[in-house]
Amino acid sequence: MIKIALLGFGTVASGVPFLLEENASKIEQAVGGRLEIAKILVKDESEKQRLVEAGHDYHFVTDVAEIMTDQDIAIVVELMGRIEPAKTFISQALAAGKHVVSANKDLIAVHGKELLALADQHQVGFYYEAAVAGGIPILRTLANSLTADKVTRLLGVLNGTSNFMLTKMVDEGWSYEQALATAQELGYAESDPTNDVEGIDAAYKAAILSQFGFGMTVDFETVRHSGISTITPADVTMAQQLGYVIKLVGDVRETASGLSVEVAPTFLPKSHPLASVNGVMNAVFVESIGIGQSMFYGPGAGQKPTAVSVVADLVQLGRAITDGQVISAFNGFAQETHLAQPEDVTNSYYFALSIKDEAGQFFKLAQLFAKENISFQQVLQTEGDGETARVVIVTHEMSLVQLDRVRTQIATADQVTLLNHFKVLGV
Ligand code: NDP
Ligand code: HSE
Repeated sequence: MIKIALLGFGTVASGVPFLLEENASKIEQAVGGRLEIAKILVKDESEKQRLVEAGHDYHFVTDVAEIMTDQDIAIVVELMGRIEPAKTFISQALAAGKHVVSANKDLIAVHGKELLALADQHQVGFYYEAAVAGGIPILRTLANSLTADKVTRLLGVLNGTSNFMLTKMVDEGWSYEQALATAQELGYAESDPTNDVEGIDAAYKAAILSQFGFGMTVDFETVRHSGISTITPADVTMAQQLGYVIKLVGDVRETASGLSVEVAPTFLPKSHPLASVNGVMNAVFVESIGIGQSMFYGPGAGQKPTAVSVVADLVQLGRAITDGQVISAFNGFAQETHLAQPEDVTNSYYFALSIKDEAGQFFKLAQLFAKENISFQQVLQTEGDGETARVVIVTHEMSLVQLDRVRTQIATADQVTLLNHFKVLGV
């Protein structure tokens, strides 16, 4: 029997005992023994009381030392979220020779390198399959099944909350507030949903994907990210008219100078496989030399899907413990990190602009873009009130340097206002 401890007993954590019971025989065969929840850390006595009264028959503790000093506990499962005290508790567990499972992408994206070094130093495992795309086993797939392939680009719908919200807003006309409240009720959103809607949660996941797909540890500060809160109904309508769907997309790709990692609302052609990823579903679209294109699809959040990934880590660690094996690193791929130069990161872009509705304004606009050597793919004037007109431009590929320059040009131009701009993915 292998004893485990849970830190936190919220949405995901309470799914773990459920699965251990529901699939007990299958899990026992895979591990070669039973996984037993020996202790669960909760915040305080009143929470402990509440859980006991609700019928949870576990050994709840409020002092983490009761777990760290317990020699019989082999694996600690951190499911509290946030950076602290999770980082301290995980460090203590690793230093005490305990294996750790976590779903905490915030912590792993920012401090993963340090924690992995600590795990290595103490020859224990630190696994976190659930940290990216909840129920989709993407990290293990990249680390194991694609070892023999060279990944060139990873595109992902990586945040269930924002994808659920966008889907409801587009398909059912829900308000932003209504969609967010429902995502929170359903347990998809983080306790503070800012990270979900501002692209930060997806950026954490993109940073972790960089390690698994490209062996590069990127500093989280270098991940360019923006969220869904700036998307307007007019952009959604325009995307549809032009044959696109707007999604929050993580994009990790190789360029001539290095790795580009970005999360941004993106116009996806309706024919792109990621365009049909709706609701809380996530997907990671992999471009690689050997396989070509493949897509991994599934629920990116929610209690049971996420707990399935957590228990998968427990099973891997449990099997190795049973067999007396040296625990292998979750991801064995590492190479020097080189980040892309902005001139090597190219995309098409959608620009929504407001201009004065009079003769010569289109010409002025064309000159602004031509000055930066940006060429147009599509241009349309969508509406006007007699005074101003709304103009939409889809460009051919241009670099981040050109993007910065043209935004500056627009900001300083008379009678032109940039309403929004989004990345556009080619077919
Ligand atoms: P919840 O907020 O539902 O659960 C976290 C629990 O931990 C809460 O009960 C919280 O108590 C408790 N907690 C916080 N600090 C402490 C502490 N110091 N000691 C004891 N307990 C503590 O979060 P989730 O279950 O949704 O998420 C857990 C982790 O899984 C996070 O890292 C999240 O990012 C990740 N994740 C979540 C997914 C999901 O679908 N929900 C999907 C993929 C990953 P209190 O509420 O009182 O603060
Ligand atoms: N809040 C996250 C999401 C949970 O909505 O995708 C999964 O990481």
